[in-house]
Amino acid sequence: MDKLIIEGGHALKGEVAISGAKNAALPILFSALLTDGVCTYHNIPRLRDIFSTIELLEKLGARCTFEGHTVTIDAGGMCCHEAPYDLVRKMRASVLVLGPLLARLRRARVSLPGGCAIGARPINLHLRGLERMGAKIELEHGYVEASVEKLRGKAIYFDVVTVTGTENLMMAATLAEGTTILRNAAREPEIVALAEALRGMGARISGDGSEEITIEGVDRLKAVETTIIPDRIEAGTFVAAVALTGGSVTITNCDTRHLKAVLHKVRLTGTQLDVTPDQVRVQSDGQIASVDIKTQPYPGFPTDMQAQFMALMAVGRGLSMISETIFENRFIHVSELKRMGADITVSGDTALVKGVAHLSSAPVMASDLRASASLVMAGLVAQGSTVVNRVYHLDRGYEAMEEKFKRLGAAISREKA
Ligand code: EPZ
Repeated sequence: MDKLIIEGGHALKGEVAISGAKNAALPILFSALLTDGVCTYHNIPRLRDIFSTIELLEKLGARCTFEGHTVTIDAGGMCCHEAPYDLVRKMRASVLVLGPLLARLRRARVSLPGGCAIGARPINLHLRGLERMGAKIELEHGYVEASVEKLRGKAIYFDVVTVTGTENLMMAATLAEGTTILRNAAREPEIVALAEALRGMGARISGDGSEEITIEGVDRLKAVETTIIPDRIEAGTFVAAVALTGGSVTITNCDTRHLKAVLHKVRLTGTQLDVTPDQVRVQSDGQIASVDIKTQPYPGFPTDMQAQFMALMAVGRGLSMISETIFENRFIHVSELKRMGADITVSGDTALVKGVAHLSSAPVMASDLRASASLVMAGLVAQGSTVVNRVYHLDRGYEAMEEKFKRLGAAISREKA
């Protein structure tokens, strides 16, 4: 397994361009299953999760190409309705094939994703919504067996705001009989991006970005060519990293409308931010005021930035309370940060971070995608040489992260396994 070796203490300077958003690309690539035309998608990040998605699409009979940052998908020859365990266990977002398979083939056999490091992450709300639309759902041998004569439009209320649950049902509803209304729907920019891609295919969707989305079913969808939005979590990660290391960096190719909560909190740390619609200039002397955060569904502070913000608070001047309200076990990075000298106490869904003067380098272990990013950030300021093991977690969601940091002046290198 690859590892990253980081010499801490270098301020970051220069410019970095943000890649396409992983969590927008995944549902949009799966939505190509809804048509027999050839879809083309630009600004697709070159990430492990994207290659896993293409592997699954090809398993289902679609023909895909991936050149540079452009993917084409021809699902005209789609013949298989099964997403096997060995693919789903690599990427739980594979459950997003459920809606498209039921809508297009009227049946699906998808491995249950199982738990993951940050929580149980059930898909009961996905399944209940599809049952409401007429699907017959059985769970056996670790698989979801689903079938339906024809999906019917229904009013569906989500007990909990779920991003992929909203995406799965929005896709299923595009080809259903009648109108579907999703209530207490997720409002993330990735939901709006998927709705725009689906509208480009001829879907009739309104209300995306609000808590109530209306989808009028149509008979068929046509191919679309579209470009993926920038990754707000990658952008937020770089903003936090520069605040932490000190320096002056311009982050380009981002959509700062999607980053309001994060930029607000980073400003409160005393970091100077100059913001335009597609750029953020971050200037920091590395002196950080401690700030409290509480993760919330969009437009609140994103759970996917919690670990990165904790790394920033580890060297804050004071006390920071970090509450994680979305996932029940998303503090795995705490033990690794403490091994680097951070002073953090966890009680239930809250971590109390007492800022320390400096972090010290250590060999650390990445556990999930965003925890890996927080450990890389800590390594960038820790005294000495930090080794981050199991960086395949990082490669799932950050395109060439060490190359981007190296170009900004960080002393970071990858040691191939
Ligand atoms: C999406 O995961 C993202 N992944 C996650 O990003 C992100 O952390 C999460 O949304 C929250 O913003 C993708 O978009 C591919 P949820 P998702 O369903 O959809 C509970 C990353 O780092 N829930 O919104 O799986 C669930 O347990 C990843 O890029 C149910 O109880 O998350 C959680 O507590 C990590 N039943 C809460 O809802 C369900 O049927 C939110 O989960 C579904 C969800």
